[in-house]
Amino acid sequence: MFARALANEFARDVRTGLTRAGQKTLSCRYLYDDIGSALFDAITYLPEYGLTRADARIIQAHACELVASLPANVIVAELGSGTGSKTRPILEHLRTRQVVAYYPIDVSRAALQRCARELDSFGMVAPIESSYLEGIRQVAERRDAGQTLLVLFLGSTIGNFEPEAAIDFLLALRLCLAPGDVLLLGTDLVKPIEQMTLAYDDPTGVTAAFNLNLLGRINRELDADFDLRQFEHVVRYTEEAQRIEMHLRSRMYQIVSIRRADLIVDFVPNETICTEASHKFRPEQIARLARTAGFRLQEQWMDTQWAFAENVLIAE
Ligand code: AVI
Repeated sequence: MFARALANEFARDVRTGLTRAGQKTLSCRYLYDDIGSALFDAITYLPEYGLTRADARIIQAHACELVASLPANVIVAELGSGTGSKTRPILEHLRTRQVVAYYPIDVSRAALQRCARELDSFGMVAPIESSYLEGIRQVAERRDAGQTLLVLFLGSTIGNFEPEAAIDFLLALRLCLAPGDVLLLGTDLVKPIEQMTLAYDDPTGVTAAFNLNLLGRINRELDADFDLRQFEHVVRYTEEAQRIEMHLRSRMYQIVSIRRADLIVDFVPNETICTEASHKFRPEQIARLARTAGFRLQEQWMDTQWAFAENVLIAE
């Protein structure tokens, strides 16, 4: 039933995105089926994509300081945990002073199972298979009085939200928290354009495959007939919006039928579908974003090899 509801939602979103006036779009959350998740994992190893390694390096370098700054009784929740690999140093420091309770929240059951297996030795690992906010609500309901909640939102996933949606999301998250709770927010920073475009258009073609797989997924799950070879991965950086956009560009005039979305859609040559926006931040913008959403920026750690900031935000 849950699977059917998700398939219907996917069909509805695909229909809406491909029939809107002007720029056709597909939501980036559909990039992550099993194949897409495996391709994203491969992206994180690419020399051109330094984001994930920078995130992990900062956490490794500052986990001790972070944990030392927290009150006595902390529980940890991670939004979009994946396998939880970046979180390990934080849990390692935490367990030297208390029993660890870790709630990884993700929509991928497979990732959560791996996460629980790999981090099991740390203490109580309680995976929550749900959307971010629903997951945090569940954690908030289970917390005991006197516990501080440390929420991890790493990997600059916040950058994949439209700016207004990012504020709305952080506001909604803040409402689930108590004053003094902590949000560790990873944000990729603006860097030279060539470096940013190469990160999303690697010469190996892994990101292109990640992007094209979205059409493959629509073929598989919604009984469509996209010819993937007739679309090309394209990346653009927009200075004003400070964002990298991924598109799929039609190589020719073509008509595609998506039977389970009850849709026939045509593409003119060079027309694109926008599949993802990845916003980049300037360090001073994070403090403003935090304030708008009811947090105070307490600490900002940067990586020296890749412009990335790890931000410690305190719920006010
Ligand atoms: C998950 N997210 C932060 C990645 C990003 O950099 O925006 C997704 C990604 N898309 C292409 N490469 C990586």
